[in-house]
Parts: sequence; structure tokens; C-alpha cells
Amino acid sequence: MSKLVVGNWKLHFDLEESVSLAKEIGAGNKGNYITGVAPVFTSLASVCKENAGSKLRIYAQNCHWENSGAFTGAISPRVLKNLGCHGVIIGHSERRHVFGETDEMISKKVAAAISEGLEVILCVGETLAERDAGNANATVKAQLDSGLSNVSDAGIERLVVAYEPVWAIGTGKTATPEIAQAMHQGIRAQLIAWNNKAKSVSILYGGSVKPANCKALLSQPDIDGALVGGASLKADTFLPIVNSGHIAK
Ligand code: 13P
Repeated sequence: MSKLVVGNWKLHFDLEESVSLAKEIGAGNKGNYITGVAPVFTSLASVCKENAGSKLRIYAQNCHWENSGAFTGAISPRVLKNLGCHGVIIGHSERRHVFGETDEMISKKVAAAISEGLEVILCVGETLAERDAGNANATVKAQLDSGLSNVSDAGIERLVVAYEPVWAIGTGKTATPEIAQAMHQGIRAQLIAWNNKAKSVSILYGGSVKPANCKALLSQPDIDGALVGGASLKADTFLPIVNSGHIAK
């Protein structure tokens, strides 16, 4: 599977700032990991254009499941593909919990984006209340079951899963490498039980990944990379993560 680190810029940066940071990351990246960034929609066209031919992968942070129609404010998978995006993040916990996206919506988005030829980073993860109630595994299992439900055999090669415990996102509280590894091992087992081809699906960890903790997390056997929020907003904190560890396959 690919070793991958993606910076999710969320709602940060205007056009100029996005282009400039992407350039800085591209220039400082030693290629240990496949690397990507996910700017806001309005910066995607320029960031894609400026990085055409470079190794930096550009991801969108969300998309709709239809390619056209009366969906005010929505962005289609086809539009993202045409811009030159490599992939799209789907089902991020902020989409689920702030914007009310359901498992059903997420599963339609996953299938639509994959069928347009985009790589999908499908995010799953439990809240603190779910973890405290002993339901972390069941929550993630249900999210994954639903997210995979419309993925075809051929689409598996464009699938990446990100485990992002909601209690670790933007809180400074990272899952310990042991907790993260245990969850990733469960996700891997579920993927393989679903379809043996899915043994090659990369599973990223997300939630307060920083230069100081990235090595301990990324050296776990079932952690194939990272989805990074806050630390991806500066080259000074993102490049040490991108340049740590494994050599990209
Ligand atoms: P932080 O790294 O800021 O915790 O955010 C993680 C995340 O949500 C990446 O998608």
C-alpha cells in the first residue's frame, strides 16, 4: 500500500496563500511519503495548475454525489477531476458533526467520486462519548460498512481510509500509538473481510499529528500515513512530518 501524508487545510488561506504554501511544501518535500494537500475549493484550480507535473497531490475537502443538477452550492466529483484534483476527502468528522452529513450521504459521495476516477480518503472515527461508552469499534465499523457499501471491486484501488478519532481532532490530544494501532488493525481486518483486494488500502491516522509524535504513530504496522490538520498549515511543521520515516512506494 502507499505511504501517504495529506495536509487538510480546512477553512484556511486565500488563493495566494494556498499557492505559496503548496509551492513551499513541494520544494521541501524529500519524497519519503507520497504527499498531498487539500485547499479550499476556490484555491483548487490555481493550486492544481501551479503544481501540474509535480509530485504533490491535490485533494478537495468534500464533494456532492451528483455531477449536475439543482444542487445550489454543491461541487461535483467531475468538476474536481477536470480541475486536476487527485482525490477528495469524504466523511470528515466536521462534515458529519458540523454539517450533519449522514452515513448514507457519505456512501453515495464515496461511490460517485471513485467512479469519476478520484481517489477517495474516507474518514471514520468515534466521538469521546462513543469511546467512553465502549462503542469506538462498533461506531467505526458501522461507518466503514456504510462507506464501503457502494464501492465496486474495481474502485478499491482508489480507496484510502483515514481513522480520525473526533476527540483527537484539533484538541492536542493524540490517540496513543497503541490505541491508534489497535483501531487500524481492526479497520484492516474489516477491509480484508469485506474484500481481499482491500488488503492494499492505505489507512491513515488523523488527530493532532505533529512533528513530535509523528514517528511513534507512523511506525505502527497498520498506520500507513497521516491526515494532518493544524500542523499542515505551516511548512515548518508539515515538512518534518512529510520528511520523516518511510520511503514512498
Ligand atoms: P488536527 O491535526 O488539527 O487535529 O486535525 C486533524 C484533521 O481533522 C485532519 O483531517
